[in-house]
Amino acid sequence: MRAFDSLPIDWTHILPTIIPLAEIDPELVESLLDAAFGKDRMGRTAYKVREGMEMLEGLSIAAVDMTENELLGSLQCWPAALTDEEGKMHPMIMVGPVAVHPDCQRQGIGRAMIDAMLKELHKDESLPLVMIGDPAYYDRFFGFSPERTGGWKLPGPWDPDRLLVRAPKDAVLPEKGKLGPWTKAKTV
Ligand SMILES: CC(C)(COP(=O)(O)OP(=O)(O)OC[C@H]1O[C@@H](n2cnc3c(N)ncnc32)[C@H](O)[C@@H]1OP(=O)(O)O)[C@@H](O)C(=O)NCCC(=O)NCCS
Repeated sequence: MRAFDSLPIDWTHILPTIIPLAEIDPELVESLLDAAFGKDRMGRTAYKVREGMEMLEGLSIAAVDMTENELLGSLQCWPAALTDEEGKMHPMIMVGPVAVHPDCQRQGIGRAMIDAMLKELHKDESLPLVMIGDPAYYDRFFGFSPERTGGWKLPGPWDPDRLLVRAPKDAVLPEKGKLGPWTKAKTV
């Protein structure tokens, strides 16, 4: 497997195959993320939310072009938790980064990866999914919304319109709390 190389390939013919991200060389994933988000991405607040955590391998996805043996996209999930005002931790799944190589965006690869991740979740038992992202994309296609995150804080700067959660309507979500790594202490 190698990094996506846009020059010699007509990418309109690409048919992505979805496989576990754990099968991909981590260095390839890092260079894809640099291409999608820039090399200064590590300072982003989302990285602090899952600091010290290990990626959830069962929910982390890669999109590859098997013909060319190239990595086209990646989606990672992490254990996170919202700590409420009483200090109780409410476990959640942090989704992201979701990245598609800039030269093959808007071809359905992002949606294919997110659909694959959602299929892995147990419908009735899934923890809330939280992410920092564009509601015009994540709300429109997948029901991630900023409606219930207005009272939440993050360990760094954030745009409240981009702090999104996807949970059943009847799920109990604290109105106020701070999002951070899931350290498994004081969990409700
Ligand atoms: C955002 C991203 C994951 C979407 O994946 P993608 O494969 O490019 O998009 P898809 O093909 O799945 O979806 C295409 C549709 O989504 C829309 N879309 C794509 N990115 C969008 C965005 N950031 N905001 C609003 N709409 C978006 C397209 O207009 C298109 O809509 P249409 O079908 O009506 O034409 C990808 O563009 C990307 O990696 N962007 C850079 C990194 C990033 O911002 N990641 C998200 C934060 S974690």
